[in-house]
Amino acid sequence: MLKIAVLASGGGTNLQAIIDGINNNTIINTEISVVISNNSGAYALTRAKENRIDARCVSPKEFLSREAFNQALLETINLYNVDLIVLAGFLVKIPEAMVHQYSHRIINIHPSLIPAFCGVGFYGLRVHEAVLEKGVKVTGATVHFVDEGMDTGEIILQQPVMIEDGDTAQILQKRVMEQAEWVILPKAINMIAKENN
Ligand code: GAR
Repeated sequence: MLKIAVLASGGGTNLQAIIDGINNNTIINTEISVVISNNSGAYALTRAKENRIDARCVSPKEFLSREAFNQALLETINLYNVDLIVLAGFLVKIPEAMVHQYSHRIINIHPSLIPAFCGVGFYGLRVHEAVLEKGVKVTGATVHFVDEGMDTGEIILQQPVMIEDGDTAQILQKRVMEQAEWVILPKAINMIAKENN
């Protein structure tokens, strides 16, 4: 059984795609041990509770320094002995100590075709605004391993999505989620679960 921790900062639709994938068996031999958010108001925490999954908040606001927050985050994850950490819209830079301890065992979903529209400052809606500003015709999403850099780790899966006339950043974000993120994140977890078997 692949035990995973899902880290999310916001709505948690990618978390929901993972929960659904486990429930409908498109993700095999996997269990979500805990959902962790940096944001106490994250709807992802509600989704976790609704599905009887441990939900924890580790907020930087509760700590005097970034180091103390980083340590608390790592200690919280370590409590669960997970095999894989899944960043599903987790908008916090992963501390180096965590990257080292969980080398090749942290994956992230990013809403563009890396290496385009990624790195510092590229997250959420901002990615899609930049895509539209640039006038590119194809975008998509990427699942990759997390290393010490920002969106620089080894790519696992990518899925392209076409830009359409009249797209706004919101419309494009929704299409990228539906056609790419919610497809390739569960798929990548299933691939890792199969290898783990
Ligand atoms: C998703 O679009 C995810 O790709 C993005 O945040 C959103 C979270 O949505 N992540 C990044 O931009 C990371 N750089 P969700 O909470 O509904 O899953």
